Amino acid sequence: MSHEEIRKEFIDFFVSKDHKLVPSSSLIPEDDPSVLLTTAGVQQFKPYMLNQKDVLKDFGTRRLCSIQKSFRTSDIDEVGDEHHLTFFEMLGNFSIGDYFKREAIEWAWEFLTKNLKLDPKNMYVTVFAGEKNIPEDSEAIKIWKEVAGENIRIEKFGREDNFWGPTGSSGPCGPCSEVIYVFANGVETELWNLVFTELFQDEKGNCAPLAQKNIDTGMGLERLVWVLQETPSVFETDLFKPIIDTAEDLAEVGKEKIDPKSLRIIADHARAATFLVGDGVAPSNSGRGYVLRRIIRRTVRHGQLLDINGLFLGQLMERVIEMYGEQYPHLLERQNEISETIEGEERKFGQTLKRGLKELEKMLDGPGIRGEDAFKLYDTYGFPLDLTVEIARERGFEVDTAGFEKEMEKQRKRARAAQKFEEYKPEEIAPLHTATHLLNQALREVLGPDIHQAGQDLTPERLRFDFTFDRKLEEEELKRIEEVANDWIKKDVPVECVETTYGEALKQGAEALFAEKYKQADKVVMYKIAGFSKELCAGPHVKSTGEVGSFKIMKQESVGRGVRRIYAKLPNV
Ligand code: SER
Repeated sequence: MSHEEIRKEFIDFFVSKDHKLVPSSSLIPEDDPSVLLTTAGVQQFKPYMLNQKDVLKDFGTRRLCSIQKSFRTSDIDEVGDEHHLTFFEMLGNFSIGDYFKREAIEWAWEFLTKNLKLDPKNMYVTVFAGEKNIPEDSEAIKIWKEVAGENIRIEKFGREDNFWGPTGSSGPCGPCSEVIYVFANGVETELWNLVFTELFQDEKGNCAPLAQKNIDTGMGLERLVWVLQETPSVFETDLFKPIIDTAEDLAEVGKEKIDPKSLRIIADHARAATFLVGDGVAPSNSGRGYVLRRIIRRTVRHGQLLDINGLFLGQLMERVIEMYGEQYPHLLERQNEISETIEGEERKFGQTLKRGLKELEKMLDGPGIRGEDAFKLYDTYGFPLDLTVEIARERGFEVDTAGFEKEMEKQRKRARAAQKFEEYKPEEIAPLHTATHLLNQALREVLGPDIHQAGQDLTPERLRFDFTFDRKLEEEELKRIEEVANDWIKKDVPVECVETTYGEALKQGAEALFAEKYKQADKVVMYKIAGFSKELCAGPHVKSTGEVGSFKIMKQESVGRGVRRIYAKLPNV
């Protein structure tokens, strides 16, 4: 069965059980600060499980299924074996206060053994063994025996293995039961996780029953395809083979010298990077941007180990988009943007990689890598710490990571003293600062002079801007605001930086978000966008508005009474 057929079989099965197919949500979780990236299908359904949103209103049913784009940073270092991946797709069926354990178990077994014809002899299941105030899941044991026969192998495990969630410090969670597949050679893989989401864990770690019982199941598509296509690992399945082949063709190291681990890492990371950028992640030095940067840099390094010459990520990305464009049309639509981002990062890193490696070689002649050395590699050559650790380990050296952290903290302090936004490079963040000033002024032009900024948060991917206003903005207004900002970008007027006093700035009509802070300062910095806005700010800013590229509002929301929030991005930066 091809992966397309397997996807279809899964969806058809659950649709026949009255489930509604819901499209995958973005890898960037919407309104869920508990995770950096979407890690499971259940993520987008959490508000329904908590009764914060009405599932019937939004979907017309309490039974849902999906194939969810997911990303697990926790597995980055495991990539290279048979089945660990960073990005993967998760097949899942969900009950929001509808069916519970019995149906979840019955259907999982029916699908695996009847539809996919997997031999029950090759599978066993695990259930929650019980712990503290939560008892052993004897109900699941009973149901499994009824469904799969008295002789089914059932293993019991504790919280670590058989209890899912919450993500972050609180949220929905519950005991779970997994179906494990055992290959003829003894290799095992967790195939399907059935979570009986009936509890809520609060910040203190106490669990209480949820108002309704829910089901959240997740089965990695890649693993399922691996089992069904009976390949040595997920990387020979039709979800990966073309990417692996492309990388192998590019490798100049000689067939016998190719390390399959490098090929696997390249294939996983190239696919993951394509999907991350496809969902709007941009490389940066923190958060999800850093995850992206890390995997791109790691890909470049493994490309170098295989003697791949020149830029190669673009070719891999094209292959990924060829394979996945039909399932995920946004990849096709954003192909240019994805290739520019990935190749840009590849080019930047490729240049420093060689020099950095030379430097690292010298360090490896000594007794080991000191924190300062690792920091120098990071700071001067852009080597993420884990890359240094990885290379050092390959050669039998340890890195003083605690020492590295110390250096990092020292630098953070230096940066904090120098400027407020220590996390990002000035060139990454400057266009967003300027865009924020444009937005601030555009809001006033469109909505009236009483609008004032109430907060902001910038990452290289987007800006978040809070302002005083007491109703939802009309579509027309949002459009108008975008237009005003974009007009000033098109005019490409200078952004001038003037040092002055707080009193003088006020006299000139400057806006100031942190008025209290500025009042006490002897000198303040005012950024003037010629003919348009004046605002006190610590910067950094671009030199002229054209560098902002373009301005796009992503969404608006309310953040309490009288304060609205706008998310916007700069698609052309
Ligand atoms: N949330 C569960 C998991 O991630 C099942 O979908 O394994």
